[in-house]
Formats: sequence, C-alpha cells, structure tokens
Amino acid sequence: MITFDKATQVFHLKNDRYSYVIQIERGKYLLHQYFGRPLHEFRGSALRPALDRANSPQPAAYENERTFSLDVVPQELSTNGHGDFRIPSLEVVLEDGTTVIELWYEGYEIKKGKPALEGLPALYAKDDEAETLEITLSDTKGRMKAILSYTVFEGDGVLTRSVRYVNTCKEAIRLENAASLSLDFPDHDFDRMSLYGGHASERNLERIRLMRGVMETGNTRGASSHQQSPFLALARPAAGELSGDVYGFSLVYSGSFRMATEVEQFGTTRVVIGINPDDFAWTLEPGESFQTPEVVISYSHDGLNGMSQAFHKAYRNHLLRGKYQHRVRPILVNNWEATYFDFDDEKLDNLAACAADLGMELMVLDDGWFGHRNDDNSSLGDWKVNLKKLPHGLEGVAESAHKRGLKFGLWFEPEMISVDSDLYRAHPDWALHVKDYPCSFGRHQLVLDVSRKDVQDYIVKSVSDILASGAIDYVKWDFNRHLTEAFSEGRAPEHQRETKHRFILGLYSVLERITQAFPDVLFESCSGGGGRFDAAMLYYMPQTWTSDDTDAVQRQRIQTGTSYAFPPITMGAHVSVTPNHQVGRVTPMQTRAFCAMMGCFGYEMDITRMSDAEKQQVRDHIALYKRLRPTIQLGTYTRLLSPFEGTKNETAWMFTSEDEKEVALFYFHDPDSTGAETLVGKTFYGDELMQEGINIDKINSDFTGYLWVLEKVG
Ligand code: DGJ
Repeated sequence: MITFDKATQVFHLKNDRYSYVIQIERGKYLLHQYFGRPLHEFRGSALRPALDRANSPQPAAYENERTFSLDVVPQELSTNGHGDFRIPSLEVVLEDGTTVIELWYEGYEIKKGKPALEGLPALYAKDDEAETLEITLSDTKGRMKAILSYTVFEGDGVLTRSVRYVNTCKEAIRLENAASLSLDFPDHDFDRMSLYGGHASERNLERIRLMRGVMETGNTRGASSHQQSPFLALARPAAGELSGDVYGFSLVYSGSFRMATEVEQFGTTRVVIGINPDDFAWTLEPGESFQTPEVVISYSHDGLNGMSQAFHKAYRNHLLRGKYQHRVRPILVNNWEATYFDFDDEKLDNLAACAADLGMELMVLDDGWFGHRNDDNSSLGDWKVNLKKLPHGLEGVAESAHKRGLKFGLWFEPEMISVDSDLYRAHPDWALHVKDYPCSFGRHQLVLDVSRKDVQDYIVKSVSDILASGAIDYVKWDFNRHLTEAFSEGRAPEHQRETKHRFILGLYSVLERITQAFPDVLFESCSGGGGRFDAAMLYYMPQTWTSDDTDAVQRQRIQTGTSYAFPPITMGAHVSVTPNHQVGRVTPMQTRAFCAMMGCFGYEMDITRMSDAEKQQVRDHIALYKRLRPTIQLGTYTRLLSPFEGTKNETAWMFTSEDEKEVALFYFHDPDSTGAETLVGKTFYGDELMQEGINIDKINSDFTGYLWVLEKVG
C-alpha cells in the first residue's frame, strides 16, 4: 500500500480508491505530486513546466536556476521566509525574535497499522487494516523536526494526516501556527463546500466557486461550533451527489479551527487545515513535542455520496469505539421539551410508564435534577441530586424506568459553572477569567478552566460518583456556551495563549477517563444542540444531539447537512410536539417520525398528553423503526435529493441494509409537489427502479413524509 522508489524518490500511498504521491526533490524538499484515482505507478507525465520564475525567490543554493522557486512548487509542509508566499502551515518565533527556519527531508519509516496520537483522539486501525508512513523533516540548523504522518486504510476512500513538531535545540520555540495539513492542487477548477449555521440551524451546505485569494472556514469560539463545521470539500464543478471527483476534509478536533484555501498567482490551490492560528500559540521547550490534531481526507470519484460514504465507513469502523460502536441504539424519550425544568417524581414516573407502554427503550432525565436548579441561573458544577425536587433521589427515578424495562439516562454539563453554585463559592478561580475585567456570561453561566488538572479531576470525580451507582445507562454531555476570557490563573504569561487548546486536551483526558471507567454507559454529546458535532467527540461518545431545532422541515436540512461528514448512527433525532417549540410550524406526526427515523430515534414531548389515536400512531412508528433500525443505523446511507439543491425543497434519503436485501427510502417535499401511483405489494426488477425510479402519491397536505420499504425477492 505504501511504497518508496529510491530511484525516483517517490512515496506512493495507494489503495483501490486513490493514489497519493509525494516526491523528494533535490534530496531536500517534500513535494506533493498527485492525489486522485489509483495509478499503476507515478512517473510524472504532467510535471509542471520549467518556466522562468525570477519574480519568485530562488533558494540560496539555486540562485541561478530561475525556474525553481518554493513559491511555485507543491509542498507537503509549508513554512514562510524562504520564498513561499502562500499560506504557511507552520509559523515559529525563535528566542531572538526571528521567524525563519528551514525544514528539509531527513528520512522515513513505514509502519503497519496506525500509531495513536498522544493526547488526541484519532482514527485507529489494526496492523492488517492500515499502513502508516512517517516522514521526518529536519531544520538545517538543527532547531526542530516535523514528523509528518500519513495512514492509508485498506479498502477505504480515506487517508489521515497529522504532524508532530519537535524542539531539538536548546532554546524555547514559540509555535504561532502548527497546522495539521498542507496540500497543494495543481489547478483551481473546484467548487468549495462547507457547512455553516447557527444555534438551532446547524450544518447548512454552502457550495460556491473556489475563488482566487484566501477563503477560510473556521472559528475562534473554543468549540467546533454551530457556526462553521470542521469540514471542507473541494468538488469538481460537474460533481453531483452520485458522480464526479470530490476531495473531502474532516478535522478530528473540537476546538477553534481553520480550514483555509488559497488560489494563487499561477492558479494552483493550497489547502491548509488545523487549529486556528488566530486563537493559538504554543511554547515548545527544548526536547518537547507538539502533536497536531488529525485530518481525515477522502477522495471520491463517485460524487458527494462517495465522499460521505467513505467518511461514514471510516468513522464507523475506525473512530467510534466501545460497546455501542456496532450496536443499534435505544429508542429514547427525553423529558426536556416535555417538562423543561418543571418536573417531579410523579411526572417522571408517568413519562416512564407511558414510554414503556409505547415501546420505547430508554428514558432520559435532562437538565434541572441537581443543586437547586429550576431555571438556567444556578447550580452548574453542583452535581448532587436535588432531593427537594426528587425525594427518592436519582435511584428513585432510575428505578421507575428500570422496573418497566427501560434504561435510564441523565444529563450533565460538566465543563460549566454557575456563579450561584457551591462550586463557584469554593473555587471562583476555577472559571476561565482574566485579572482586570469582568467575565462575559452565556446563558448566565461561566466556563470551567478545563485546562487545569484539578478541574479535570473534579469533573471526573463528580460525574463518576453519580455513575458509580450503576443506575445510569446513558449520559447526555452538554456544553452550552463558548469560551471567553480564556486565560488560566497561575499559568506563565508565555503559555497563556495555549489555554484554549489545553482546554480541549483537558476535555479529551476527562472523557477518556470517564468513558473507559464506565464502558457499559452509552454517551451522547451535545452542545446547545449540535454545536460540537465533530469527529473528535464521536471518538468518546458514539452519538451527538444534532440540533436543538426539532422541527421536521428544518431538520431535513440539518440532518442532510450533517450527513456530508457523519453517518446516521451518530445523529440524535427526536419527534417533538406541534406547533414546534422552536419555529411554531405544524407538521403531521408521520412526517416528524419519518424525519427522526434517519438517526438515533427518540421522542422529546409530553407523550402522556397524547390522545389514544396518537399513541397508537407512535406505537406503530416505533414498531416500524425497530424493524428498519439495523438497515438505517448499520447499513449504507445515500442522499438522493438534497434540500440544498433545486427549487422544490425536496429531500430523499435512502438506506440500504448491510446484506443489500432491504432498502428504506424516505421522501419529504414542499407543498407544491405532485405525483401519482404507489408501489405497495408490487415487484419490479432492479434495473427499472434504477433507470425509471418511482413516483409518489398525489399529495393532499403540507409537509408530508413518505417511506417506501423495498425488499429483495430474487
Ligand atoms: C441544550 C440541549 O441541546 C437541550 O437538548 C437541553 O439538554 C438543554 N441544553 C438543557 O439545558
């Protein structure tokens, strides 16, 4: 899979989906030569012409070679200072204030499998599933090394890339930009695709022409965020859902990130991805190393679905972990939209009784069970049950669920602190803050300084103390505001700009400790809805609450957008009441159910107040979902119609079972669509279904959802 040809100095990273070619030039420079469909061998048929580049600087040793400049060659790691004026992937400041180093090729190693990344989540693989190439670049004055790591996965359309920077000199080196990836394409004939949004409107797809100059997707919020997702795709303009060349990038990181593209003077495209340098600096003491997060890169010749399916397969097999990795997820009822903070033992008991009667499998108690929290003004940090509200404790609520055959789940928001809390009264310094200015609030709360070890230990202990009872089968881990005044009391001034990244490293350490200690608990991450839906969180928690917007029409966009990078089994999706609490829209129960069936299905409404007819409908939907669940959660997902394309607001999702014997096809439409004919009970050859497709019934009401289940009979 990974070969090195000494004669041509070519590294060929290859599987049956792609070739990725790196070449050492002049024994020094690491050039990127090709990425695309698999090649037999790279011989350089389309190497760039040797044109006069006198306007771009020549390295000292090549002063008279006007056709050679670092400003022009495609590089695997880019620094500034020697004539490459495009976006750098590494920026350093030495102790004397200079910013120039010179990294040249030193050597390589090819390893079976995939080494873990220190302190960071990453894809993993067994020795026979992947191969890893590590290329070392070394500064010509011995100041530092960069170890570039590439993993090729057998049979998957993805590879991963990260870098470890090592200080090999006697002085501290300040990293002001330490990107994970730099990749140069020879042209710019691309559409640029990214996912943007906001709270309750996450991951809308934007597809625009890649423009000259620099374009950036990213944020400085200290979270992967609702606003921009750590996902980028470059698609050939003709590429659609089912065909065409697409390059996808997904960053395994939950903090401030940047995904930049630059189309430069000669029309080539550089992509640089990593921690956002606007929000970061890191002082590397002698002998220390800095590990960047990992980028998962996909190449698809089969359009956007090919890209998504490559990400989905890689994430399901090489990112998710634990008991629930390959298991269907329980159908839940969550009391948030049913009761908000206004609940007691009796209401929860009624909810559990009704959930069990309707066929649900897990009851989740959301915000408001701890401290004296009856609204969002207090108690974050005080993870002790409120016995005034729940006199029988959490054990009582858990028992009410368990005795009815339901699992029991609990909400936490462990990275936060309320000013009105015992924790804040005891440790005001544990909140992120600066010395001379007041803290900014978000939802009346402050953020704990998770970069500190004592804070990490407190979180681990307070959550573990609750889980240790054994009564909790599921945890929803929320995070409802972004980082401000991100400084850490007691940290040396030169290390203060590390705080946001150290926060994320602290979070990963906490999550590793808790999830490993409680392997039977199913964890779902959440961040004011889907504000931290990223690959890194999925490494610890195999599902994420997709959005606080539960409206079935909005959700078609949000879930479709999310599906560009993430598989359905990772998306929490619930049926809620109408008129919808977020947008006030009224939609049929069936549409809400079909929409929520795309992911980890559940209900988030007061099911005790439904009529008998509605309850029967819910029972039927649950029975249907249980039947289709293996196909939806463990099968292959295909976007047939995207709400981001066309003018009819149509959405169609198709799920094909692992054995390819069953297909579940969901269709949603706007009020203007028309159609005819149903399929029920009929048998067709596959070629007709592929070529002709299917029509839909006449539509008599707004926001109808349709489902066809096709079974293979021959
Ligand atoms: C935000 C989450 O997304 C909601 O589902 C709910 O858990 C609230 N927080 C509770 O405060």
